[in-house]
Amino acid sequence: MNQNPGHQDAASAQNLSGEPKPRTPPHPAYPNVLHGQPALVTGANSGIGRAVALGLAAAGADVAINYISHPEAADDVAHKIEAMGRRAMTIKADVSREDDVAAMFARAIAQFGTLHIAITNAGLQRDASFDEMTLEQWNTVIGVNLTGQFLCAREAVREFKRRGVVDSVSVAAGKIICMSSVHQAIPWAGHVNYAASKGGVMLFMKSMAQELAPSRIRVNGIAPGAIRTPINTAAWNTPEAYDKLMKLVPYDRIGEPDDIARAAVWLASDSADYVVGTTLFVDGGMTLYPGFATGG
Ligand code: BGC
Repeated sequence: MNQNPGHQDAASAQNLSGEPKPRTPPHPAYPNVLHGQPALVTGANSGIGRAVALGLAAAGADVAINYISHPEAADDVAHKIEAMGRRAMTIKADVSREDDVAAMFARAIAQFGTLHIAITNAGLQRDASFDEMTLEQWNTVIGVNLTGQFLCAREAVREFKRRGVVDSVSVAAGKIICMSSVHQAIPWAGHVNYAASKGGVMLFMKSMAQELAPSRIRVNGIAPGAIRTPINTAAWNTPEAYDKLMKLVPYDRIGEPDDIARAAVWLASDSADYVVGTTLFVDGGMTLYPGFATGG
């Protein structure tokens, strides 16, 4: 899972090619828009999940922090959230296991009273060339990235339907944000299991959104591009790798986890109330066929 420590905050980030560090916007953008809306974030002890958990808390939410390994990193996120004056809890669970997921949601709901937001974020890669890929590598990636999102979203929807809309809190009965990837659209050689899982997330998300909209449950996705997290360290941690990566990013900077956090806060808030079944690409233009900037 996206769950190793090693997250680097935007403030300490360096442009490894030696260019001046491009500016990233301040955080948080929307104080208090999620007040009274407890959230559960999977894979929240590192990378994008960690930033999203902190971003939701900065916007007023209490947060349940799911992790599978490195409990100390989950505790650190919880302490930061409590320092903001919000409630936090950490929950160990393997999102690909039905009983783990049911127990996790039961604990979070017992602690916070209910949940209004679920961010199905936990994800991992098990890369291999196609003919070398083992069934275990395939099943692990599909199990966490796709089945894990199903199991978590299903528990969230059960709670949202049970409770319904609480007018004083949000105009929606609940919000689900599925963490996808640019690879729901961009084929990725050497990563067939991962691309298949994210392509699956796209229609999983849209079909859920269509089915649940009449219950005033909003389901959307975020498709991050190359974000500075442990999952893709090799793509940015040397000047050579960073410069190569920038050939794929028209905006000419790597994404920071806070870029995704700000998108998640907005999508979860009532400001996005009419946004249903959409994938928000947060990728610096990676999906704009950058190879065509100079040809075609
Ligand atoms: C992958 C990263 C990759 C990025 C852009 C993400 O979904 O997890 O490893 O750098 O897509 O290709």
